[in-house]
Amino acid sequence: MDIVKTRFDVEAFLRDYWQRKPLLIRNPWAQWTNPLEPDELAGLACEDGVESRLVIQPGHGDWLVEQGPMAETRFSTLGGSPWTLLVQAVDHHVPDVAALLDPFRFVPNWRIDDVMVSYAADGGGVGPHFDQYDVFLIQGLGKRRWRIGGHCDEGSERLPHDDLRLLAHFDATDEWVLEPGDILYVPPGIAHDGVAVDDDCMTYSIGFRAPSRSELIAHWSDHLLDGLQEDDRYEDPGLSVQDNAGEISEDAIARLHAMISTAMLDRDAFARWFGQYNSTPKYAEADCRPEEPISSDEIGAALSEGTALLRNPASRFSFIKKTDALTLLFADGECFECTGPGIAFAETLCAQDSFVADQKLAQSDAGIALIEALFNQGSVMFDAED
Ligand code: SIN
Ligand code: CO
Repeated sequence: MDIVKTRFDVEAFLRDYWQRKPLLIRNPWAQWTNPLEPDELAGLACEDGVESRLVIQPGHGDWLVEQGPMAETRFSTLGGSPWTLLVQAVDHHVPDVAALLDPFRFVPNWRIDDVMVSYAADGGGVGPHFDQYDVFLIQGLGKRRWRIGGHCDEGSERLPHDDLRLLAHFDATDEWVLEPGDILYVPPGIAHDGVAVDDDCMTYSIGFRAPSRSELIAHWSDHLLDGLQEDDRYEDPGLSVQDNAGEISEDAIARLHAMISTAMLDRDAFARWFGQYNSTPKYAEADCRPEEPISSDEIGAALSEGTALLRNPASRFSFIKKTDALTLLFADGECFECTGPGIAFAETLCAQDSFVADQKLAQSDAGIALIEALFNQGSVMFDAED
Protein backbone atom coordinates (compact mmCIF):
# COMPACT_ATOMS: atom_id res chain seq x y z
CA MET A 1 0.00 0.00 0.00
CA ASP A 2 1.43 3.35 -1.02
CA ILE A 3 0.86 6.74 0.47
CA VAL A 4 -0.06 9.08 -2.36
CA LYS A 5 3.05 11.24 -2.50
CA THR A 6 1.29 14.23 -4.00
CA ARG A 7 -0.90 14.52 -0.93
CA PHE A 8 1.79 13.67 1.57
CA ASP A 9 5.00 15.59 1.03
CA VAL A 10 7.70 13.56 2.80
CA GLU A 11 10.38 16.29 2.62
CA ALA A 12 8.02 18.88 4.11
CA PHE A 13 6.93 16.41 6.78
CA LEU A 14 10.51 15.65 7.85
CA ARG A 15 11.40 19.33 7.84
CA ASP A 16 8.40 20.69 9.71
CA TYR A 17 6.82 17.89 11.76
CA TRP A 18 9.07 14.87 12.42
CA GLN A 19 10.11 15.01 16.11
CA ARG A 20 8.58 18.49 16.31
CA LYS A 21 4.79 18.61 16.19
CA PRO A 22 1.72 16.46 15.59
CA LEU A 23 0.17 16.22 12.14
CA LEU A 24 -3.16 14.89 10.98
CA ILE A 25 -2.95 13.35 7.51
CA ARG A 26 -6.40 12.77 6.08
CA ASN A 27 -6.59 9.51 4.12
CA PRO A 28 -3.49 9.79 1.91
CA TRP A 29 -3.76 6.21 0.59
CA ALA A 30 -4.59 5.44 -3.03
CA GLN A 31 -7.15 3.07 -1.56
CA TRP A 32 -7.31 2.15 2.09
CA THR A 33 -8.08 -1.48 2.98
CA ASN A 34 -8.06 -2.61 6.60
CA PRO A 35 -5.37 -5.33 6.56
CA LEU A 36 -6.56 -7.40 9.53
CA GLU A 37 -9.94 -8.59 10.78
CA PRO A 38 -10.84 -8.02 14.46
CA ASP A 39 -11.20 -11.81 14.92
CA GLU A 40 -7.69 -12.40 13.61
CA LEU A 41 -6.33 -9.86 16.11
CA ALA A 42 -8.21 -11.57 18.94
CA GLY A 43 -6.75 -14.90 17.77
CA LEU A 44 -3.21 -13.51 17.90
CA ALA A 45 -3.81 -12.21 21.44
CA CYS A 46 -4.54 -15.80 22.51
CA GLU A 47 -1.21 -17.12 21.22
CA ASP A 48 1.81 -17.83 23.40
CA GLY A 49 4.75 -15.63 22.55
CA VAL A 50 2.56 -12.74 21.36
CA GLU A 51 2.58 -9.71 23.65
CA SER A 52 -0.92 -8.37 24.31
CA ARG A 53 -2.89 -6.38 26.86
CA LEU A 54 -6.53 -5.82 27.59
CA VAL A 55 -7.43 -2.44 29.11
CA ILE A 56 -10.90 -2.25 30.66
CA GLN A 57 -12.69 0.77 32.16
CA PRO A 58 -15.22 -0.71 34.57
CA GLY A 59 -16.36 2.78 35.67
CA HIS A 60 -15.61 5.31 38.43
CA GLY A 61 -12.35 6.25 36.70
CA ASP A 62 -10.88 2.76 37.23
CA TRP A 63 -8.54 1.17 34.71
CA LEU A 64 -7.96 -2.58 34.74
CA VAL A 65 -5.16 -4.18 32.77
CA GLU A 66 -4.85 -7.87 31.90
CA GLN A 67 -1.75 -9.22 30.21
CA GLY A 68 -2.01 -11.83 27.44
CA PRO A 69 -2.06 -14.49 26.24
CA MET A 70 -5.85 -14.23 26.53
CA ALA A 71 -8.21 -17.15 27.02
CA GLU A 72 -10.31 -17.66 23.89
CA THR A 73 -13.49 -17.20 25.91
CA ARG A 74 -12.33 -13.86 27.36
CA PHE A 75 -13.77 -11.63 24.64
CA SER A 76 -17.32 -12.94 25.01
CA THR A 77 -17.32 -12.22 28.77
CA LEU A 78 -16.27 -8.59 28.68
CA GLY A 79 -19.69 -7.10 29.32
CA GLY A 80 -20.66 -3.52 28.50
CA SER A 81 -17.70 -1.56 29.92
CA PRO A 82 -15.43 0.18 27.43
CA TRP A 83 -12.39 -1.96 26.68
CA THR A 84 -9.51 -2.16 24.26
CA LEU A 85 -7.19 -4.96 23.22
CA LEU A 86 -3.62 -4.06 22.23
CA VAL A 87 -1.32 -6.48 20.44
CA GLN A 88 2.38 -5.70 19.88
CA ALA A 89 4.48 -6.58 16.84
CA VAL A 90 1.60 -7.77 14.68
CA ASP A 91 3.89 -7.10 11.70
CA HIS A 92 5.92 -10.15 12.82
CA HIS A 93 2.93 -12.39 12.19
CA VAL A 94 0.81 -10.81 9.46
CA PRO A 95 2.49 -9.85 6.16
CA ASP A 96 -0.30 -7.39 5.21
CA VAL A 97 0.29 -5.56 8.50
CA ALA A 98 4.08 -5.62 7.93
CA ALA A 99 3.39 -3.96 4.54
CA LEU A 100 2.00 -0.95 6.44
CA LEU A 101 5.59 -0.10 7.34
CA ASP A 102 6.65 0.39 3.72
CA PRO A 103 5.28 3.92 3.19
CA PHE A 104 7.10 5.03 6.35
CA ARG A 105 10.53 3.86 5.26
CA PHE A 106 11.53 7.46 4.69
CA VAL A 107 12.66 6.99 8.30
CA PRO A 108 15.65 4.57 8.49
CA ASN A 109 14.74 0.98 9.28
CA TRP A 110 16.93 0.93 12.38
CA ARG A 111 14.55 3.45 13.98
CA ILE A 112 11.47 1.25 13.44
CA ASP A 113 10.13 -0.71 16.37
CA ASP A 114 6.95 -2.51 15.39
CA VAL A 115 3.30 -2.22 14.40
CA MET A 116 1.00 -2.43 17.41
CA VAL A 117 -2.66 -3.02 16.64
CA SER A 118 -5.54 -2.11 18.91
CA TYR A 119 -9.19 -3.03 18.79
CA ALA A 120 -11.64 -1.09 20.94
CA ALA A 121 -15.31 -1.29 21.81
CA ASP A 122 -17.27 1.98 22.01
CA GLY A 123 -15.57 4.37 24.45
CA GLY A 124 -12.44 2.19 24.75
CA GLY A 125 -8.92 3.58 24.89
CA VAL A 126 -5.75 3.55 26.96
CA GLY A 127 -6.28 6.95 28.57
CA PRO A 128 -4.31 10.19 28.28
CA HIS A 129 -0.57 9.49 28.16
CA PHE A 130 2.60 10.32 26.31
CA ASP A 131 5.08 8.01 24.63
CA GLN A 132 8.88 8.24 24.46
CA TYR A 133 8.81 7.55 20.74
CA ASP A 134 7.38 8.88 17.52
CA VAL A 135 4.25 7.13 16.35
CA PHE A 136 2.00 7.18 13.29
CA LEU A 137 -1.50 6.18 14.34
CA ILE A 138 -3.37 4.80 11.34
CA GLN A 139 -7.11 4.43 11.73
CA GLY A 140 -7.86 1.01 10.24
CA LEU A 141 -11.52 0.43 10.92
CA GLY A 142 -14.26 2.45 12.61
CA LYS A 143 -13.66 5.84 14.16
CA ARG A 144 -11.55 7.18 16.98
CA ARG A 145 -11.58 10.61 18.58
CA TRP A 146 -8.03 11.77 19.22
CA ARG A 147 -7.25 14.62 21.54
CA ILE A 148 -3.75 16.06 21.57
CA GLY A 149 -2.21 17.99 24.46
CA GLY A 150 1.08 19.70 25.21
CA HIS A 151 4.65 18.56 25.85
CA CYS A 152 5.22 16.21 28.78
CA ASP A 153 8.31 14.75 30.39
CA GLU A 154 9.28 12.41 33.21
CA GLY A 155 8.30 15.18 35.65
CA SER A 156 4.68 15.30 34.40
CA GLU A 157 2.31 14.13 37.12
CA ARG A 158 0.81 10.66 36.63
CA LEU A 159 -2.12 8.84 38.15
CA PRO A 160 -1.02 5.99 40.41
CA HIS A 161 -1.32 2.77 38.39
CA ASP A 162 0.93 -0.29 38.21
CA ASP A 163 0.50 -0.94 34.49
CA LEU A 164 -0.63 2.32 32.84
CA ARG A 165 1.21 5.60 32.72
CA LEU A 166 -1.86 7.83 32.76
CA LEU A 167 -1.40 11.59 32.93
CA ALA A 168 -2.99 13.23 35.97
CA HIS A 169 -3.74 16.37 33.95
CA PHE A 170 -4.62 16.55 30.31
CA ASP A 171 -5.64 19.72 28.49
CA ALA A 172 -6.51 19.10 24.89
CA THR A 173 -5.22 21.62 22.38
CA ASP A 174 -6.67 19.83 19.33
CA GLU A 175 -9.29 17.23 18.70
CA TRP A 176 -10.05 15.19 15.59
CA VAL A 177 -12.19 12.18 14.72
CA LEU A 178 -10.14 9.82 12.56
CA GLU A 179 -11.84 7.67 9.94
CA PRO A 180 -10.44 4.63 8.09
CA GLY A 181 -7.18 5.53 6.32
CA ASP A 182 -6.56 8.73 8.31
CA ILE A 183 -3.18 9.02 10.02
CA LEU A 184 -2.16 11.00 13.08
CA TYR A 185 1.55 11.58 13.65
CA VAL A 186 2.47 12.15 17.30
CA PRO A 187 6.06 13.10 18.24
CA PRO A 188 7.68 11.86 21.47
CA GLY A 189 6.50 13.54 24.66
CA ILE A 190 3.21 14.91 23.29
CA ALA A 191 0.15 14.02 25.39
CA HIS A 192 -2.57 12.17 23.47
CA ASP A 193 -5.77 10.33 24.17
CA GLY A 194 -7.71 8.21 21.68
CA VAL A 195 -11.26 7.07 22.41
CA ALA A 196 -13.23 4.72 20.16
CA VAL A 197 -16.35 6.29 18.68
CA ASP A 198 -18.67 3.29 18.37
CA ASP A 199 -17.62 -0.37 18.29
CA ASP A 200 -15.15 -2.00 15.92
CA CYS A 201 -12.42 0.61 16.17
CA MET A 202 -9.01 -0.59 14.99
CA THR A 203 -5.84 1.51 15.15
CA TYR A 204 -2.43 0.56 13.77
CA SER A 205 0.50 2.22 15.59
CA ILE A 206 3.65 2.45 13.51
CA GLY A 207 6.08 2.75 16.41
CA PHE A 208 9.66 3.94 16.30
CA ARG A 209 12.50 3.54 18.77
CA ALA A 210 15.28 5.81 19.90
CA PRO A 211 17.93 4.57 22.32
CA SER A 212 18.23 6.52 25.55
CA ARG A 213 21.63 7.94 26.43
CA SER A 214 21.70 5.85 29.63
CA GLU A 215 20.86 2.66 27.70
CA LEU A 216 23.61 3.37 25.17
CA ILE A 217 26.24 4.12 27.80
CA ALA A 218 25.25 1.14 29.95
CA HIS A 219 25.23 -1.41 27.11
CA TRP A 220 28.31 -0.07 25.32
CA SER A 221 30.21 -0.11 28.64
CA ASP A 222 29.04 -3.68 29.35
CA HIS A 223 30.29 -4.68 25.92
CA LEU A 224 33.68 -3.04 26.57
CA LEU A 225 33.93 -4.65 30.01
CA ASP A 226 33.41 -8.09 28.45
CA GLY A 227 36.60 -7.61 26.44
CA LEU A 228 38.81 -6.18 29.22
CA GLN A 229 41.38 -8.13 31.22
CA GLU A 230 42.33 -7.67 34.89
CA ASP A 231 45.97 -7.16 33.90
CA ASP A 232 45.10 -4.24 31.63
CA ARG A 233 46.19 -1.66 34.21
CA TYR A 234 47.52 1.79 34.85
CA GLU A 235 51.25 2.01 34.04
CA ASP A 236 53.73 4.78 34.84
CA PRO A 237 57.21 3.78 33.67
CA GLY A 238 59.70 6.67 33.97
CA LEU A 239 57.79 8.08 36.97
CA SER A 240 59.36 11.31 38.17
CA VAL A 241 59.56 12.42 41.80
CA GLN A 242 56.76 14.83 42.75
CA ASP A 243 57.22 17.91 44.98
CA ASN A 244 54.28 16.69 47.06
CA ALA A 245 53.56 12.96 47.11
CA GLY A 246 49.95 13.82 48.02
CA GLU A 247 49.16 15.24 44.59
CA ILE A 248 47.42 13.34 41.80
CA SER A 249 49.39 14.91 39.00
CA GLU A 250 48.12 16.21 35.67
CA ASP A 251 50.21 13.52 34.01
CA ALA A 252 48.52 10.77 36.05
CA ILE A 253 45.06 12.12 35.26
CA ALA A 254 45.94 12.25 31.56
CA ARG A 255 47.03 8.59 31.59
CA LEU A 256 43.97 7.49 33.59
CA HIS A 257 41.61 9.44 31.36
CA ALA A 258 43.20 7.96 28.24
CA MET A 259 42.57 4.46 29.63
CA ILE A 260 38.86 5.26 29.57
CA SER A 261 38.56 7.40 26.49
CA THR A 262 40.56 5.32 24.01
CA ALA A 263 38.19 2.41 24.59
CA MET A 264 34.96 4.40 25.01
CA LEU A 265 35.56 6.62 22.00
CA ASP A 266 36.69 3.93 19.54
CA ARG A 267 34.24 4.87 16.80
CA ASP A 268 34.80 1.82 14.61
CA ALA A 269 34.27 -0.57 17.48
CA PHE A 270 31.24 1.44 18.58
CA ALA A 271 29.69 1.30 15.08
CA ARG A 272 30.12 -2.47 14.90
CA TRP A 273 28.74 -2.93 18.42
CA PHE A 274 25.78 -0.61 17.78
CA GLY A 275 24.84 -2.40 14.56
CA GLN A 276 24.72 -5.68 16.44
CA TYR A 277 23.00 -4.26 19.50
CA ASN A 278 20.34 -2.44 17.50
CA SER A 279 19.57 -5.45 15.29
CA THR A 280 18.92 -7.73 18.26
CA PRO A 281 15.41 -9.16 17.74
CA LYS A 282 12.55 -7.52 19.65
CA TYR A 283 11.63 -10.88 21.18
CA ALA A 284 14.89 -12.66 22.00
CA GLU A 285 13.00 -15.76 23.16
CA ALA A 286 11.32 -16.31 19.77
CA ASP A 287 13.37 -19.05 18.14
CA CYS A 288 12.91 -18.80 14.37
CA ARG A 289 15.66 -21.26 13.42
CA PRO A 290 14.69 -23.99 10.95
CA GLU A 291 14.03 -27.43 12.43
CA GLU A 292 16.80 -28.87 10.25
CA PRO A 293 19.82 -26.73 9.42
CA ILE A 294 20.27 -26.26 5.70
CA SER A 295 23.50 -27.33 3.96
CA SER A 296 25.61 -25.20 1.66
CA ASP A 297 24.75 -27.59 -1.23
CA GLU A 298 21.04 -26.98 -0.69
CA ILE A 299 21.64 -23.23 -0.56
CA GLY A 300 23.68 -23.38 -3.78
CA ALA A 301 20.97 -25.41 -5.53
CA ALA A 302 18.13 -23.09 -4.46
CA LEU A 303 20.09 -20.01 -5.52
CA SER A 304 20.98 -21.50 -8.92
CA GLU A 305 17.28 -22.23 -9.50
CA GLY A 306 16.54 -18.56 -8.84
CA THR A 307 14.42 -19.23 -5.73
CA ALA A 308 13.55 -15.94 -4.02
CA LEU A 309 14.82 -15.26 -0.52
CA LEU A 310 12.35 -13.94 2.04
CA ARG A 311 13.27 -11.99 5.15
CA ASN A 312 11.82 -13.20 8.41
CA PRO A 313 9.40 -10.35 9.30
CA ALA A 314 10.47 -10.64 12.96
CA SER A 315 14.16 -10.17 12.05
CA ARG A 316 16.07 -6.91 12.10
CA PHE A 317 18.54 -6.01 9.37
CA SER A 318 20.82 -3.05 8.76
CA PHE A 319 24.22 -2.38 7.27
CA ILE A 320 27.16 -0.01 7.66
CA LYS A 321 29.43 0.76 4.72
CA LYS A 322 32.97 0.52 6.12
CA THR A 323 34.86 1.07 2.87
CA ASP A 324 34.09 0.59 -0.83
CA ALA A 325 35.28 -2.99 -0.38
CA LEU A 326 33.69 -3.86 2.97
CA THR A 327 30.13 -3.63 4.23
CA LEU A 328 29.07 -4.82 7.67
CA LEU A 329 25.71 -6.58 7.58
CA PHE A 330 23.80 -6.84 10.83
CA ALA A 331 21.03 -9.39 11.20
CA ASP A 332 19.41 -10.37 14.46
CA GLY A 333 22.33 -9.30 16.61
CA GLU A 334 25.04 -10.85 14.40
CA CYS A 335 27.62 -9.04 12.28
CA PHE A 336 28.70 -10.36 8.86
CA GLU A 337 31.62 -8.86 6.96
CA CYS A 338 30.57 -8.66 3.32
CA THR A 339 32.94 -8.20 0.39
CA GLY A 340 32.65 -8.65 -3.41
CA PRO A 341 29.13 -9.66 -4.51
CA GLY A 342 28.21 -9.92 -0.81
CA ILE A 343 28.09 -6.11 -0.63
CA ALA A 344 25.22 -5.69 -3.11
CA PHE A 345 23.50 -8.68 -1.49
CA ALA A 346 23.71 -7.12 1.99
CA GLU A 347 22.35 -3.80 0.77
CA THR A 348 19.48 -5.43 -1.16
CA LEU A 349 18.61 -7.60 1.83
CA CYS A 350 18.35 -4.50 4.01
CA ALA A 351 16.13 -2.73 1.47
CA GLN A 352 13.79 -5.47 0.23
CA ASP A 353 11.86 -8.11 2.09
CA SER A 354 12.02 -10.57 -0.82
CA PHE A 355 14.32 -10.82 -3.81
CA VAL A 356 16.28 -13.25 -5.98
CA ALA A 357 19.99 -13.22 -5.12
CA ASP A 358 22.42 -12.41 -7.89
CA GLN A 359 23.95 -15.46 -9.62
CA LYS A 360 27.44 -14.08 -8.88
CA LEU A 361 26.70 -14.59 -5.20
CA ALA A 362 25.33 -18.08 -5.84
CA GLN A 363 28.67 -18.99 -7.37
CA SER A 364 30.85 -17.73 -4.53
CA ASP A 365 31.66 -19.82 -1.46
CA ALA A 366 31.55 -16.73 0.75
CA GLY A 367 28.10 -15.81 -0.61
CA ILE A 368 26.71 -19.28 0.03
CA ALA A 369 28.24 -19.34 3.51
CA LEU A 370 26.63 -15.98 4.29
CA ILE A 371 23.16 -17.12 3.21
CA GLU A 372 23.64 -20.42 5.03
CA ALA A 373 24.43 -18.56 8.26
CA LEU A 374 21.45 -16.19 7.81
CA PHE A 375 19.15 -19.11 7.00
CA ASN A 376 20.27 -21.25 9.92
CA GLN A 377 19.86 -18.43 12.43
CA GLY A 378 16.29 -17.94 11.15
CA SER A 379 16.75 -14.49 9.56
CA VAL A 380 15.91 -15.55 5.98
CA MET A 381 14.09 -18.39 4.25
CA PHE A 382 13.44 -19.47 0.68
CA ASP A 383 10.10 -18.67 -0.88
CA ALA A 384 8.18 -21.94 -0.75
CA GLU A 385 6.04 -20.83 -3.71
CA ASP A 386 9.01 -20.63 -6.10
C1 SIN B 1 -4.32 2.81 20.86
O1 SIN B 1 -4.18 2.28 19.76
O2 SIN B 1 -5.41 2.79 21.45
C2 SIN B 1 -3.21 3.50 21.58
C3 SIN B 1 -2.10 3.96 20.76
C4 SIN B 1 -1.31 5.05 21.44
O3 SIN B 1 -1.85 5.90 22.09
O4 SIN B 1 -0.07 5.12 21.32
CO1 CO C 1 0.40 6.55 22.73
